[in-house]
Amino acid sequence: MSTLLHLDSSPRGDRSISRSLTRDFVEAWKEAHPGASVISRDLGHDPLPFVSEEWVAAAFSPAPTPAEQATLALSNTLIDELLAADRWVLGLPMFNLSVPAAFKAWIDQIVRVGRTFGFGANGLEGLVKGKKVTVIAVSGGVYRPGTPYEAYNFQEPYVRGILGFIGVTDVEFIVADGVNDVNFGKIDRASYLAPIREKVVASAKA
Ligand SMILES: Cc1cc2nc3c(=O)[nH]c(=O)nc-3n(C[C@H](O)[C@H](O)[C@H](O)COP(=O)(O)O)c2cc1C
Repeated sequence: MSTLLHLDSSPRGDRSISRSLTRDFVEAWKEAHPGASVISRDLGHDPLPFVSEEWVAAAFSPAPTPAEQATLALSNTLIDELLAADRWVLGLPMFNLSVPAAFKAWIDQIVRVGRTFGFGANGLEGLVKGKKVTVIAVSGGVYRPGTPYEAYNFQEPYVRGILGFIGVTDVEFIVADGVNDVNFGKIDRASYLAPIREKVVASAKA
């Protein structure tokens, strides 16, 4: 039975474009997978703690003590969630050319030696296999190939890089760009979203 991991990282609620698109994805995915489980994490509204000195010591401890294991409890829960899900949908606004800190806090919790990456015969290797990921990437500006700001998109290369590091390489980006015109009321939100929703729903049902 398939399981979906659904993450939102916008601090906004009803105004959030990434949230409205991940909601469409989840609804379409549930329709296509009746009775299947969805694990949701609202990183934007319920932020995770940053990793601490104790966390780092525990994560790299060769034989974690009970206290170190307790320090890693949340990290272990988050890793269990991503391992349990074969399909992930990530709602990701662009913040300052990259990912929101709320999402980066999740990344720091889940990139763990011995759990999501390890050292194999050929060096570092990702341990997370068989996942398909859809990233719904929303930005105020436009960073498409051939446009003046193309080189300033640190979000997509970063996300592909860090997911690849843990072994997740089947990653699709659905881009909703130029949303400043929606946010500032220059273009109608529903008309802007309609073609992107179609892509989102098609991906969820694929
Ligand atoms: C703190 C902050 C930083 C932002 N940085 C960028 C940026 O670097 N590039 C960009 O194109 N848009 C940027 N934006 C615009 C957001 O990507 C845009 O408003 C998007 O709609 C936010 O996602 P949401 O609608 O799901 O909340 C930024 C917005 C905020 C609030």
